[in-house]
Amino acid sequence: MTDSEHLWSGRFAGAPDEEVFRFQSSFAFDRELFEDDVEGSIAWSEALEAAGVLPADEASAIRAALGEIRELGRRDAGFVAGADEDVHAFVERQLVERLGDVGRRLHTGRSRNEQVSLDLRLHVRRRLPQLEGALVDLVAALAAQADRAGSALMPSYTHLRRAQPVLAAHFFLAHAAALRRDHARLGAARDEADALPLGSGAIAGTSYAIDTAALARRLGFSRVVANSIDAAADRDFVSTALHACALAMVHLSRIAEDVIVFGSEEFGFLEIADRVATGSSLMPQKKNPDPLELVRGKTGRAIGRLTGWLTAMKGLPSGYNKDLQEDKEALFDAEATLLGCLRATAAVVGSVTLRPGRTEPAAGGMLLATDVADHLVARGVPFRRAHEVVGGIVRELLASGRDFESLTPAEWRGYDERFGDDAGARITARASVEARRTPQSTHPDAVREALADVRAWVGAERS
Ligand code: ARG
Repeated sequence: MTDSEHLWSGRFAGAPDEEVFRFQSSFAFDRELFEDDVEGSIAWSEALEAAGVLPADEASAIRAALGEIRELGRRDAGFVAGADEDVHAFVERQLVERLGDVGRRLHTGRSRNEQVSLDLRLHVRRRLPQLEGALVDLVAALAAQADRAGSALMPSYTHLRRAQPVLAAHFFLAHAAALRRDHARLGAARDEADALPLGSGAIAGTSYAIDTAALARRLGFSRVVANSIDAAADRDFVSTALHACALAMVHLSRIAEDVIVFGSEEFGFLEIADRVATGSSLMPQKKNPDPLELVRGKTGRAIGRLTGWLTAMKGLPSGYNKDLQEDKEALFDAEATLLGCLRATAAVVGSVTLRPGRTEPAAGGMLLATDVADHLVARGVPFRRAHEVVGGIVRELLASGRDFESLTPAEWRGYDERFGDDAGARITARASVEARRTPQSTHPDAVREALADVRAWVGAERS
């Protein structure tokens, strides 16, 4: 490439240093924005024509050439390549190669600063729905597990110590609830990207009579940015998308951790299918949950993309600065990471077999202590007193290696005369879940409704 071929060569006496030029070039990764760039340029040619800047014949020649360039790129990804500084320079070079001076008119009143912001906004609009779709698929896999779990019981945990009995379905739906928030968060990132930056020029606005409202409608934006200085440097939609990806990864990591732990020999609560597990090169007996470990590991990378990006942004003076070019690799990597992890997690979750033979016995015993206290409360004992009485019973039972089920009516009454004859019979894991009353609880009716709600949401998102 000769010096006159760069977009900004006129001001410079000689050609740029090859290595430095390559260092600051973004074409290797912003080629991802090729179609967005062409789409924005076609719309810009229309806006210039409507503003009387471009005559109709030149504007349509530009559009025809852009259409051809897009087609070439669609047919052969290898076409979108070259020593260009970035994708914007590439598209313009292709245009000028076809149209000469007419092609050189397209950049009138426009800056790459707003162009790159436009392209990335279009990219976010195109790409995030794929992530949202993969989230819906994972929520559907969790709902299917909740359905399959039926009335099976399992212990719930706090501090990774047995807490209270719950339906296994309730556990699966807990993860679905978090993922639905991630879905909404990705939607919010799309909303944030939904503003047309064109018309901002390099920083002060454009001096051509561009109808920005019409251009926004033409490109499918619901509004135009409010301030051209802000627009040149605003990548909040990138930060929001990165945060949405990082938090979704945190949730995937926690699903992974639960399945890894509950799938271990020690718990034995569930088993992942052979097809999503890996073996050991040395120990013949091993069946390892590698995909889940990788999901957990990649979460660090997604969080790193967010923190790296925010750190890059924090010291920037207003207006465009080249630091902003870091937005694309951060975003593309976070999106690809999340998408891959969503698909792997959905495959593993879909393959899980619950083992009620292990979960149900673990859901009884001392987990019923709260229910014993509630039994006393129902008989007029203040909760704090009941807590103390039951704590004393637990201490004695643990010391003698017994559990609540083994207590005789006389022994119950020995602890507190307000225990009824039916105390032992009523204190079971099943009765415990059935005693819950709130809509977010593990009561079987509540869980049935929660599952129906998740399924309706999945259906609505897929339609
Ligand atoms: N490749 C650049 C980026 O990604 C495009 C904008 C360049 N603008 C400029 N004034 N150098 O941010």
